[in-house]
Amino acid sequence: MSGAPIITLTPAPTLDRTYFVHNLIEGGVNRADGVSEELAGKGINVTRGLYLSGVKAPGVIPIGNSDPGVLARTGSIEQFIPHWVDGTLRVSTTIVEKDGPTTKVNEAPRPLSDSDWKEVVALTIAKVKENNAKWLVIAGALPIDKGTHTFVDLEPLFHAMHDMGVRVAMDSSGEPLKVYASKGLPSVIKPNAHELAETVGRDLYTVGDVIDAARELCEHGVECVLASLGPDGMVAVTKEHAWKAKTAPVKVINTVGAGDATLAGFLTAVVTNPVSNNDEFGVGFNVPLGVKTAVQYGAVSVTQPTSGLENLDNMPEAEITDNPDRDAPLEEVAHSAPTK
Ligand SMILES: Nc1ncnc2c1ncn2[C@@H]1O[C@H](COP(=O)(O)OP(=O)(O)OP(=O)(O)O)[C@@H](O)[C@H]1O
Ligand SMILES: [Mg+2]
Repeated sequence: MSGAPIITLTPAPTLDRTYFVHNLIEGGVNRADGVSEELAGKGINVTRGLYLSGVKAPGVIPIGNSDPGVLARTGSIEQFIPHWVDGTLRVSTTIVEKDGPTTKVNEAPRPLSDSDWKEVVALTIAKVKENNAKWLVIAGALPIDKGTHTFVDLEPLFHAMHDMGVRVAMDSSGEPLKVYASKGLPSVIKPNAHELAETVGRDLYTVGDVIDAARELCEHGVECVLASLGPDGMVAVTKEHAWKAKTAPVKVINTVGAGDATLAGFLTAVVTNPVSNNDEFGVGFNVPLGVKTAVQYGAVSVTQPTSGLENLDNMPEAEITDNPDRDAPLEEVAHSAPTK
């Protein structure tokens, strides 16, 4: 796996188990017509999206050793680097009723021991070094550290990446996003409008509000904020510039994982189109090409039934403007208060 330009880390992967039933009887005993299993998590989706693009991006995952066959069973051996921890993998259960609604029950991330987390950090740093990677993606929920009873600490990773000149792209939410974005530690973050509102602590009504919120985080040191706006595309904001990219409407089948697809698209574009020394974008990577590609990947993702990208066929065209209409209202108000 040498020479991968990107490494991903999914601190709390999950086994997605989907049951297909005919008629779901709530409170009754149901027999499944079929069951499928998939290894899932935001960094895992980004890794898969990047491999689809032909960009190597092995994914580090802490994973329960009680089920050692899980990688082979879910077709995940080639692209992932496990750190085996005691126990089983957490499970996210989906019940798909034929011609009916889909019900999901997601288990919270399992707490990790302090020593396991240190080993995950060391493994991630080692993989970045071994590959001479230029980007690390940290994506998804964070587990609780059994020693400190708070979220696992990402600072050692950020500092190690900084010392190696490796950029970190972070896609998380809630407290971890707020803490690390406020310290300006990630180079790139990809919040949706609600996550951005939560991070700055105020409601967002317009594209201008999104740009101002994103710029606040750039002032703290984040190089580029990719704020995704669902069907309205994405706004990319740096200290000095703002771009907005959008595709033509597409037939939406499943929007889960669209954000992960956008990050895969963004990184595909920036690693395959390095900027010249005369860095016209001010951050060392091609933000407009990145955001344009991001919305194309996002649009392809929503047309597919799975949460991960299946293929990159039927990529729609995207429009980009470097002068977004600040007064344009968001599809819906992005509230800063956490939602369930
Ligand atoms: N209805 C839609 N029509 C067209 N494109 C869409 C639609 N919804 C999402 N997208 C595309 O996918 C991108 C990401 O979507 P969204 O803002 O919903 O991400 P997200 O909330 O982070 O999703 P997730 O966390 O589930 O992966 C958007 O920027 C856009 O390019
Ligand atoms: Mg998201």
